Amino acid sequence: MLTRRQTLALGAGGLAALGAPGFALGRDEDRGPSLHALAQAKGMRFGSAVGVSPPGTISGAFHDPQYRQLLIDECGVLVHENELKWYVARPDAETFDFERADMIMDFAEENGMEMRGHTLLWHHTDWFPDWINNHDFGSRPGTEAERMLTEHVRTMVERYKGRIYSWDVVNETIDEAGRFRQTPLSRHLGEEVIDLAFHIAREADPAAELLYNDYMNWEAGYERQQEGVLRLLERLKARGAPIDGLGVQGHIGSGNYDYSTGFDTAREDTWRQFLDDVVGLDLSLSVTEFDVHDKNLPADIEIRDRKVAELGRRYLDLMFSYPQTKDLLVWGMADQYSWYQEHWVREDGVAKRPTPYDENFQPKPLRQAIADALIAAEPRP
Ligand code: G3I
Repeated sequence: MLTRRQTLALGAGGLAALGAPGFALGRDEDRGPSLHALAQAKGMRFGSAVGVSPPGTISGAFHDPQYRQLLIDECGVLVHENELKWYVARPDAETFDFERADMIMDFAEENGMEMRGHTLLWHHTDWFPDWINNHDFGSRPGTEAERMLTEHVRTMVERYKGRIYSWDVVNETIDEAGRFRQTPLSRHLGEEVIDLAFHIAREADPAAELLYNDYMNWEAGYERQQEGVLRLLERLKARGAPIDGLGVQGHIGSGNYDYSTGFDTAREDTWRQFLDDVVGLDLSLSVTEFDVHDKNLPADIEIRDRKVAELGRRYLDLMFSYPQTKDLLVWGMADQYSWYQEHWVREDGVAKRPTPYDENFQPKPLRQAIADALIAAEPRP
C-alpha cells in the first residue's frame, strides 16, 4: 500500500506505470487538489495543529475520525497543539510523558506526513509547570537551571531525532511591550537561556530546522512586540545562536482584547518592514499557527466567512511574497475544535469560524482563499 506521500512523489505517470488504481493524488473529486498538493507544487508544505486532549474537548480533535480523515485529505505536516509543551509532557521533574504526543507522531508517520515540534521552551511563567516556578535551584542556581533545561531539550529532541524536521525551540518570550519575559530560568541564566535551548537542540539533532516562534502580529498595536522580537533575533545571531528562522504564528483578525476597532486593523507597511528586517538577518519565515479571528465581525455566516477569507488571502499573499516562506500550518482545520471557541467569546455568543472547514467538515471560503494563495505563489527557490 503506497503511503499518500509516496503517491504524491510518484505523480500520475508513476502511478500509471505501477498500474495502481486511480489512487488519491491528494485530490478529491469536488475539491480538486489537496492544500498540501498545491503547496508541494511550489516547494512548500501545508499542514495543521491537532490536539489529543480528552475526547469531546476543544483541544481533543484527534479523537474525531472525521477530523483525522480531514488531516489525511489536506495535510502533509502536523504539529502537536499541546502535547510537547513542558507543562503537558513533564508532569514532574522526574517524568517525561510522551504517550499523547506519540499518538500524533505515529498517526503522521502512518499517513506519510511530516511533523513540526511545538515547543521546547515556552519561555513564559504562565506556561511553566508549577514545579519549575516553585523549584529550589539550590546554592548553584545557574548550574541547576542549565542542567534542567539541557536535560529537557536534549531528551525531547533526541526522542524525535529524524522524525521532527523543524522545532519551535523557543515560543513567545517577547511581550507586547517588546520586553523579554523573565522566568526562573532566565533569572539564573539571563537571556542566554534562549541561546542555550538553541545550542542543545542543534547538538541533539543537527538536521532539524530551529525556529523562534511568536505572535507579533501585523495589526495596529503590535509594533513594539515586532521591534522586541527583531532585537532579540539580532542579539541571538550576534551571539552565534544556531537559529534558522522565525515562526510567524499568524493568528490574524479582530482585536483579541475586546478592541472595538473592528476586524481589519492590519498595518501592512510596518509589517513588511519587520519581515524585511528579519529576512535581512538571513532567517527563514514559517507561518506556524494561521487562523482568522472573527470576533468583531457580524454574526451573519455568509458575511463573516467572506471577510475572513478576504483577510486571510491578503495575509497569505503578503507572506508568500517572501520566498523565505516555505511552510503554512493552520492552528486547526475545523471550527468546532478551534482554541478561539474558548477565548474572547463573542458578545452574541455565536460560535466562531476561524478555520478552513466548518463544524460539518465542509470547506469554507477560507479554504478556497488558502488554495488560491498557494496557486498564486511563486515556486520557492
Ligand atoms: O488538559 C487539561 C484538562 O485536563 C483540564 O480539565 C482543563 C481544565 O481547564 O485544562 C486542560 O488543559 C488545557 C490545555 O489547553 C489542553 O492541553 C488548558 O486549560 C488550556 O488553557 C490549553 O490551551 C492551549 C493553549 O495553547 C495553552 O497551552 C490551547 O489548546 C492551544 O490551542 C494554545 O495554543 C497556543 C500555542 O501553543 C502558542 N501560540 C498561541 C496558541 C493559541 O493560544
